[in-house]
Amino acid sequence: MNEKFDVIVIGAGPGGYVAAIRCAQLGLKTACIDDWVNKENKPSPGGTCLNVGCIPSKAMIESSEQYEKAQHELAIHGINIRGVKLDLATLLARKDSVVNELTSGVAALLAANRVTFIHGRGKLLANKEVEVGEKRFSASNIIIATGSSPSALKGVAYDGKTIVDSTGALAFDKVPKRLCVIGTGVIGLELGSVWRRLGSEVFMLKSSNTFLPMADQSIAKEALKTFSEQGLDIRMGAKIKDVTVVRGKAVIEYDDSKGSHQEKVDKIIVAVGRQPNTHDLIADEVGIAIDKRGFISVDDKCRTAVDGIYAIGDIVRGPMLAHKASEEGVMVAELINGEFAQIDLESIPSVIYTSPEIAWVGKTEQALKQEGTDYTIGTFPFAANGRARALGETKGLIKIIAHAKTDRILGVHIIGPQASETVAQAKIAMEMGASSEDIALTVFAHPTLSEALHEAALSVHDRAIHVVQPKRKK
Ligand code: FAD
Ligand code: NAI
Repeated sequence: MNEKFDVIVIGAGPGGYVAAIRCAQLGLKTACIDDWVNKENKPSPGGTCLNVGCIPSKAMIESSEQYEKAQHELAIHGINIRGVKLDLATLLARKDSVVNELTSGVAALLAANRVTFIHGRGKLLANKEVEVGEKRFSASNIIIATGSSPSALKGVAYDGKTIVDSTGALAFDKVPKRLCVIGTGVIGLELGSVWRRLGSEVFMLKSSNTFLPMADQSIAKEALKTFSEQGLDIRMGAKIKDVTVVRGKAVIEYDDSKGSHQEKVDKIIVAVGRQPNTHDLIADEVGIAIDKRGFISVDDKCRTAVDGIYAIGDIVRGPMLAHKASEEGVMVAELINGEFAQIDLESIPSVIYTSPEIAWVGKTEQALKQEGTDYTIGTFPFAANGRARALGETKGLIKIIAHAKTDRILGVHIIGPQASETVAQAKIAMEMGASSEDIALTVFAHPTLSEALHEAALSVHDRAIHVVQPKRKK
């Protein structure tokens, strides 16, 4: 007889392991199947996010920022250090140990919650049976959370050495002298910035002519200016014609509005999006539709066409973000338990961990314009914020967009220091249906970066204190 569970979760990324823990908390007999192995060939739950995504990239972002500070920014504080040297092997080992601590933590959490962890590749069969190697398991409910993998660019084959995806870009054994990044999305900007800080000369190619199309365009404009000043050479409208590897170097040919170009580089990182892991995952008899791009079709509650089978995270519509996957996991666990649960995909916060960081929640100005909603804008520059001055991080601004009639906050867009933390305050306010006046009436501690949010809210009604506001007629 197959072992039978209340719930089987396939995938132990931030979608799957969180869903499994929540199911177990609710008293459901739960199994979680995952096939990830680490360098030592050991199971390593946590998915893309913990193993080769959010966590290792942020560990390297932190190290590279410290290196840049030690080289160029400490002298202004009167701290003079000579002979700053990069030990890349130690930097990478630290990153690996942060990953190991967290993946072991997930394994421990699953065990402590009495989730049965099954290592291996799962395939969903008819009647809610899952095959893992020679074994079969069954459950009353299935949650598919198999995540995504880097997309390939036609004509540019990964070789794992000279032409790499985001995973390869987390493990170069020496700093490439010249680095080309194809794609100026989230991964390209975060990892391109890491290697620039560590000493690479970086240029980035992007096929379209709009920089960060998903961000508010006034923030994107500021970001493009800042990153270019930092030395990221961002070339837009580039159509890649050919890439070849000759004696360990890559030669890349592309066309843009200025003509044809050829560049020789030490490494190429391709970061042109990710595709869902749904290949050979579900037997035809199950009856679950997978669309042309490989995504599983679900409704707003992550229900597939088959009763009791759910899909969450990167394999379904919506942003490919860890916190979105986790929230869907919690929602589905509670739905299975017969509770009411929902998630608002329109207001998932986004963060790009560049320096300065970019973060937003809610609608962009261009989206509001397009839908014809009347709005009012308040902005505040970090250059006028005392804490930002003390930190020496004065680039950027906060922009709040409020409904013209009701004053309800529709979107908050930030580029600046610790934007990833400040956006959480905006998200809480929006979750509670706050108006810009609600934030304006709130007392913020001084001196904090959060005061910039307060001032941006005041500025919606032209009453910010630390920037000159337009004069009103009496
Ligand atoms: P995944 O994390 O991909 O997990 C899926 C798991 O299922 C994997 O372990 C996989 O091996 C396993 N699996 C697949 N098929 C099977 C099968 N048939 N049987 C068993 N197991 C299977 N998001 C953020 O929110 N913030 C960030 O800062 C951030 N940084 C990122 C940086 C990089 C470099 C990358 C690549 C991604 C980043 N992301 C970030 C995106 C984030 O990693 C994903 O959105 C998130 O991991 C999706 O979670 P998931 O649970 O859907 O899938
Ligand atoms: P992306 O969708 O963010 O960016 C893809 C980039 O590739 C765009 O700039 C696009 O114009 C470009 N591109 C596409 N086709 C191209 C071509 N043929 N030639 C040149 N350029 C081309 O995808 P990315 O950066 O790979 O990241 C994947 C996902 O991972 C993100 O969408 C995000 O959801 C997630 N992620 C999130 C992070 C975060 O939350 N901080 C960090 C890293 C990844």
